[in-house]
Amino acid sequence: MTNKYILPSVTEAKRRTRQKTSVEHESFEILDQHRDIGNGRKFCIRTYGCQANERDSETIVGIFEALGFQETKQYEDADVILLNTCAIRENAEDKVFGELGFLKKYKTTNPDLLLGVCGCMVQQETVINRILKSYHHVDFIFGTHNIHNLPTILYQALIAKEKMIEVYSKEGSIIENLPVSRFGKHKAWVNIIYGCDKFCTYCIVPFTRGKERSRLPEDILKEVNDLIAEGYQEITLLGQNVNAYGKDLNLSRGFAGLLEAVAKTGINRIRFTTSHPWDFSDEMIDIIASYPNIMPYFHLPVQSGDNEILKLMGRRYKVEDYKAIYDKLSAKLPHCSFTTDIIVGFPNETEEQFQRTLDLYDYCQFDSAFTFIYSPRSNTPAADMEDNIPLEIKKERLQRLNKKVGYYAKKKNQAYLNQVVKVLVDGPSKKNPEIYSGYSETNKLVNFSFKNATIGDIISVKITETKSWSLNGEEI
Ligand code: 5AD
Ligand code: SF4
Repeated sequence: MTNKYILPSVTEAKRRTRQKTSVEHESFEILDQHRDIGNGRKFCIRTYGCQANERDSETIVGIFEALGFQETKQYEDADVILLNTCAIRENAEDKVFGELGFLKKYKTTNPDLLLGVCGCMVQQETVINRILKSYHHVDFIFGTHNIHNLPTILYQALIAKEKMIEVYSKEGSIIENLPVSRFGKHKAWVNIIYGCDKFCTYCIVPFTRGKERSRLPEDILKEVNDLIAEGYQEITLLGQNVNAYGKDLNLSRGFAGLLEAVAKTGINRIRFTTSHPWDFSDEMIDIIASYPNIMPYFHLPVQSGDNEILKLMGRRYKVEDYKAIYDKLSAKLPHCSFTTDIIVGFPNETEEQFQRTLDLYDYCQFDSAFTFIYSPRSNTPAADMEDNIPLEIKKERLQRLNKKVGYYAKKKNQAYLNQVVKVLVDGPSKKNPEIYSGYSETNKLVNFSFKNATIGDIISVKITETKSWSLNGEEI
């Protein structure tokens, strides 16, 4: 291995220090040498995984464009192809390795094509080793903490023709002046906190995204105000765990204070994701209930309905605590909607323990849920736990759970029949250009026949038909 590579180390990524994260407002710059490397060249980016990756891709596209590149959606037109990857489960990684294999043929037809990989997967030594061993056609790799160095990495790979690997295991400063090319014109992602310090025993994210680092409130508010000035209607505040916002800055009111300040900017719609039930404070609930521009929709991952499993998962709350938050939110916001994440087949999960997850589902009657079979991630504590549950049983449990998810999704949507909901118009629906689609305040997908609506408007729609995963209606 060449020593010019900067390779990741899980041991280092695990370590947390008390060192405060610095914030830099002017450090990103494009050197004269790099300025025009993209002129006459096209790039194509594919993004896998969560909203954090989507938001990172917006920055990456911003940097490509600042270097003179043009975006293309077609692999065959690209001079540079980049995969922004996800490491959360094995099947997410399998997809990327499959795509890397598929992309080899484009290198044969276009030997000048550059192929890059970035994102969570490459924060792991095992992945880098596999790429180096079996995917020689990958030209450059950079990690989640190296995005600001993309101009140099691209220059080295493209002009100096060196294979580049730059993956820091430790997060650096928060860099505020990175370019961004937003994918939406009226809905925007706004990062508020990076990283995760929860270390749930099954999860790779604390290793791939580093320690919790909050952006300064003034930087977030400036971004929100700029978005309002640009005509954005909705923002989603992003973090692996937004509820931890401000702890590292010693802000006394944490996420509740930020949420209130963002609500006061007057932006039409505020969402946030993801919340951890452990530090969902009463003050947060009060703020959410008192500002109509904070949307009454909660994605609150529970993971399991059994206390023993929750403890083994390192989740730091009990089923009773979760129900208490659920009860408070439902009491203060009777029309709100809830979704959750659930993992089935955690090591040694018994039928009774799984049954308690189904019972909790009946209690909360979630509007929808993201459900997963547990996937061991190397270097996480759960990966070392013995597991006596066969995959067939896990699959069968997932099916039973998904049946329940479908049942409540349909039931919850039925309550919307003949109601009028406010919808932010996204544009023509996927299936029928005569019909527009958008999302309600409670995050329901609504397809509707329109009269005067234009994209980006918030309009009233009367619901005329309900389905399990969407609502149909007409503009009124
Ligand atoms: N296996 C299966 N699901 C996982 N998640 C996180 N790590 C794993 C894993 N190792 C799920 C959790 C989390 C969501 C983003 O992904 O439910 O909330
Ligand atoms: Fe992973 Fe838990 Fe952090 Fe969520 S809170 S990113 S599940 S470690």
